[in-house]
Amino acid sequence: MLQLVSNRGFVLTAFSFALVRVSYCSTENIQVVYPKIPAIAEYFGTKGRYEEVNPHLIDDILAVNKTLLKPPSVGCSPIHLTAIIRHGTRYPTRKNVKKIRHLYDLVTKEAMNNKKWLHEIKTQWKMWYTEDMDGQIVAKGRDDHRHLAVRLATSFPSLISEENIRSNRIKFITSSKHRCVDSVIAFKEGLLNFWECKDVELIHEVDDMLMRFFDKCRRFIEDVENNKTALKEVDLFKTTAEMKRVQIKMADRLQLPYSHVTPDLVEAAFYLCSYEFAIKSVNSPWCNLFDEMDAKVLEYANDLKQYWKRGYGHDINRKSSCTLFHDVFGRLDRTANEIRFGHVTEAVTVQVGHAETILPLLSLMGFFKDETPLTSENYAKQQGRSFRTSHIVPYAANLVFVLYDCREGLRLQFLLNEKPLTFPNISQSAPLYETVREHYKDLLEGCNFEEECEVPRASCSKCSEL
Ligand SMILES: *[C@@H]1O[C@H](CO)[C@@H](O)[C@H](O)[C@H]1NC(C)=O
Ligand SMILES: *[C@@H]1O[C@H](CO)[C@@H](O)[C@H](O)[C@H]1NC(C)=O
Ligand SMILES: *[C@@H]1O[C@H](CO)[C@@H](O)[C@H](O)[C@H]1NC(C)=O
Repeated sequence: MLQLVSNRGFVLTAFSFALVRVSYCSTENIQVVYPKIPAIAEYFGTKGRYEEVNPHLIDDILAVNKTLLKPPSVGCSPIHLTAIIRHGTRYPTRKNVKKIRHLYDLVTKEAMNNKKWLHEIKTQWKMWYTEDMDGQIVAKGRDDHRHLAVRLATSFPSLISEENIRSNRIKFITSSKHRCVDSVIAFKEGLLNFWECKDVELIHEVDDMLMRFFDKCRRFIEDVENNKTALKEVDLFKTTAEMKRVQIKMADRLQLPYSHVTPDLVEAAFYLCSYEFAIKSVNSPWCNLFDEMDAKVLEYANDLKQYWKRGYGHDINRKSSCTLFHDVFGRLDRTANEIRFGHVTEAVTVQVGHAETILPLLSLMGFFKDETPLTSENYAKQQGRSFRTSHIVPYAANLVFVLYDCREGLRLQFLLNEKPLTFPNISQSAPLYETVREHYKDLLEGCNFEEECEVPRASCSKCSEL
């Protein structure tokens, strides 16, 4: 992760450099040209662009780093790959479009300063988001998946291959949400175009039990989703000095009364900057409402929410992913058995879901666990936290498990966003599969979705109505 940050720092500098040259070409003073990448782009959390976690893709979207993805040792051959992928870049949801419109109305009517960017917002920027966009995938989001498909096929050519597609050994599963179905379709298109296969039709299964388990887990719904106090740290953070400072600075920049600039409005503006960038690849004038210090605070607000709703905050968040966990390991086990007889039936499984699918599974498996919980009060202490959604789940984020057949036995490689990650408490980068199984023994033998998600009768709020 550390290396990643320094890489990005370098790329950003190089980029802004190139654009400084462009900016002086504009003769009109009104026409401001900003660096193409907002300075705050690395703090967008779950609304971040995939390129921010893999900056080398900015120059070449199909580049793969063969050094990073080499087999664990000589004589190993990959025999199975499971990829769990978040949908690509999407439009804001209906709820967020409403908030953006409110922000836009307020700013165009009441904000005043003599800055060029405000003039640009008022005279050139159009409120182009409509409620019917409601979280659907955008063109960039389809590209996210088409390109990822080609990079994965380039990285694992013996598994993600035309031969395996034709012999039906690649399976596609998706959440029922439009943006996920559209993503898996784009992924398949990416592969077929890459191999120039025109005569192949690929099907996909819709499976919400697997990819939207959070909607099926009653205990999660009752204890967390519908529980007003479950996210109290998120609400409390809105009242902290850090958050107030961001509000005051934004009010100041817009010359608006402080009372108008609520935490909700601040969030809407931050999201607006992130949407403009992720969807249209532009550094919108709205991004001028924040500096890096503000963005870090807003990133933390987003991380807090994910932590309490999808991560370690409540145990049921993690446990709700038990079915997906067992599904992955069941498939690895099956492959491990089959390889003894020399034939693997399912070479590749591609599963498309949500950030809400990936974060619980990562938490269940112990990734990105900080020593102290994220709370409303320890923002400063958590500067070096590992639970940082900007790094973990941008659009098209992906977890890849690769099982290798090696001389010394089977090995399991784990990649997050196409970079190897070691399993928590296992120092080796691609340990023996049996080591991983031993490490997750308790989960493999337990972690029963039905049991974890069951709501005890006594505390079941709707049971009295039955
Ligand atoms: C590939 O990854 C290696 C190991 O992290 C790194 O040293 C190298 O610079 C990377 N190459 C490219 C082209 O990004
Ligand atoms: C709601 O969340 C709070 C805080 O985590 C917890 O103490 C409480 O038991 C939860 N209530 C229900 C009904 O689950
Ligand atoms: C890793 O080891 C530490 C110390 O032994 C333990 O507290 C922690 O729970 C372990 N983490 C996982 C994910 O097993």
